[in-house]
Amino acid sequence: MVQSSQMMKTASIKKDDFKKMILPYEPHDPTPVVEEAVETLFEVLEKEYCEPFEKRLDELGEDVHVEWGDGFRPQQRRFMYLAKIGDLEGKSILDVGCGFADLLDFFKKLGMKIGNYRGLDFSEKMLEVARKRHVEYEFERRNIRLDPMKEESYDYVFGSGIFFLRHPDWKKYVHDVVESMFKTARIGVAVNFLMNNAENCRDLNYPTPEEVRKALKGVTNRLDILEDRSTDDFTVYLFKDARFPSH
Ligand SMILES: C[S@@+](CC[C@H](N)C(=O)[O-])C[C@H]1O[C@@H](n2cnc3c(N)ncnc32)[C@H](O)[C@@H]1O
Repeated sequence: MVQSSQMMKTASIKKDDFKKMILPYEPHDPTPVVEEAVETLFEVLEKEYCEPFEKRLDELGEDVHVEWGDGFRPQQRRFMYLAKIGDLEGKSILDVGCGFADLLDFFKKLGMKIGNYRGLDFSEKMLEVARKRHVEYEFERRNIRLDPMKEESYDYVFGSGIFFLRHPDWKKYVHDVVESMFKTARIGVAVNFLMNNAENCRDLNYPTPEEVRKALKGVTNRLDILEDRSTDDFTVYLFKDARFPSH
């Protein structure tokens, strides 16, 4: 009964009135909604990059194991590979994810006279330690992905140990962070990754160099990759200058 009276009602509406009742179709781009969701996911990821280190700092104090569970030697090898990017004498350096700024200690130990240096980190606690150790340099809490630096304001931009967490959209995350680093660099960017090998357990992000190359395709194709079998890491170098090879 209810059904048939509803049908009667519909049938009695004039065709033109019926047209007016239909909501006009407004085309819209669903991308912003998706992008917003990805942003939120990345913000969660960024917390995961920062909070365990703060916890370890509370537990272990200012120890290298706070930054690198695998210790001093692998950390220094990773720095050595970053430094292979070019002649750093007198150059300005931005260190994204600086932690305690151990990279600065590494340069100092080698007697390398770099120019200006600035360290960025998500964690104010890490930065406090870095500031105390290196009073002559500047440190800032900043997310370069969301809050970019002035373009071409540093010769080299480094990132050691900032892409080791798993995430379903890690390629976009790496792309977005490295793109912002690349814009900040006058000469080049060096970042490292844990390498995929047969023995890795699946708890961290172990990409292949080829996957990273693909993820960074939209940033530049002037890119080189060096593998370090002793730490099972690889370092990616991105260059601004056309003199460097494009692959
Ligand atoms: C593995 S530790 C590496 C620290 C330092 N680079 C080193 O090699 O000793 C990671 C640190 O990077 C910070 N971090 C990770 N990703 C970052 C990002 N995109 N921007 C700023 N800090 C970041 C974390 O808060 C943490 O303090």
